[in-house]
Amino acid sequence: MSHVFPRVIGSAPPPVAMRGEGPYLIDQTGKRYLDASGGAAVSCLGHSHPAVVAAICDQVGRMPYAHTGAFTNEPMEALADTLIADAPAGLDWVWYVSGGSEGVEAAIKMARQYFLEIGQPQRKHFIARRQSYHGNTLGGLSAGGNFWRREPYDPILVPVMHHIAPCYAYRDQCDGESEEAYGLRVADELEAKILELGPDTVAAFMAEPVVGATAGALPAVPGYFKRIREICDRHGVLLIFDEVMCGMGRTGTLYACEQEGVTPDLLIMAKGLGAGYQPIGAVLVADKVFAAFRDGSGYFQHGHTYMGHATACAGALAVQRVIKEEGLLQRVRDLGAHLESGLNERFGNHHHVGDIRGRGLFWAIELVEDRATKAVFDPGLKLHAKIKSAAFERGLMCYPMGGTIDGRNGDHVILAPPYNIDEATIDTIIDLLGDSVEDGLSAVS
Ligand SMILES: Cc1ncc(COP(=O)(O)O)c(C=O)c1O
Repeated sequence: MSHVFPRVIGSAPPPVAMRGEGPYLIDQTGKRYLDASGGAAVSCLGHSHPAVVAAICDQVGRMPYAHTGAFTNEPMEALADTLIADAPAGLDWVWYVSGGSEGVEAAIKMARQYFLEIGQPQRKHFIARRQSYHGNTLGGLSAGGNFWRREPYDPILVPVMHHIAPCYAYRDQCDGESEEAYGLRVADELEAKILELGPDTVAAFMAEPVVGATAGALPAVPGYFKRIREICDRHGVLLIFDEVMCGMGRTGTLYACEQEGVTPDLLIMAKGLGAGYQPIGAVLVADKVFAAFRDGSGYFQHGHTYMGHATACAGALAVQRVIKEEGLLQRVRDLGAHLESGLNERFGNHHHVGDIRGRGLFWAIELVEDRATKAVFDPGLKLHAKIKSAAFERGLMCYPMGGTIDGRNGDHVILAPPYNIDEATIDTIIDLLGDSVEDGLSAVS
């Protein structure tokens, strides 16, 4: 009997993952699973890249870990150099963490302390968006806007987190309204919320440039984030981008915000940074924020045991080198176009697929009961879960989720395959997904 506290108690024990081979995971029976979502958009180089494995083995053999309270280490410095060299101008400093939620917590606390450093202690409110996901720690969950995830913990969530609408054109753009007008209308909700709370009491606005798990690879319409940046600047509010899922090349540029032409003050990354080879995250920090700490207390009152972990940094550094040496950002763009057209071919006229959306190698289909009315399936049917188990049965790992619209209603399936996959394997993913969607639909009809 297993002594592991499982994710779902009482369900059949999951297979044992024994080996990774490129985009495949292999279980104890030898069954192969084509990993089309990298778990939750993590394994961006597949599961067995020799250069990353070698870098980790080398580092762990020489010096696995040294506490950053006493030492710096070479991979930590080199990784910071490369992340900043490739970051949008203005982001100059790296704060290390071990995962996405830790990054979100650090960003929230850094924003708060920034305002203490510059003599604006009244700034305590944070604004984020409904249907966002910012992690499962209490700060991250408070920032996140997914009703289902928040509900059990509501009484203990942080009360200074507020939410505005997401930018979700498929659902919320009005008839006769242009994309641009829609984007400005929802961005302006930020200004209304800031004015309601009192402009000098708001510390930061947090958003995923491309929403991941909760809304399904959902990019904003053009112009939306430019307007958001203007509003933040007008009211002295920091802009935090959570690129934990959509960053590190996933959308075809190293940083997702490059495609918006907008630079945040704090940028959180994880997942693709270590690509699953190591647990690591980071917050990129604008020079103006760093300067406030440097010229103020000189100390960010925060930190974790494993920050700047040498082996984790060595793994992430190797991932960054592979992305460059193998020209993978261009590959994400090219393969992304192939994936997009394959999805359109297979699902473009499907009666139960309402929207196909995404960027780079980050795509989702949104399922509907009726394409014309956009009516959703009864959430009690758990269509997303049916598709997930049908796909798993067929040896495909994708990332289906329910509650797409409001935390309760709606179903989507995310694909986030590795950057070094090939076109033929993408075609296989689309075939397997198509069959799994049909299996799921038959199970609910
Ligand atoms: C956008 C976003 N932020 C934060 C997190 C939390 O990251 P972690 O699960 O590594 O704590 C996630 C995880 O899915 C995420 O997608």
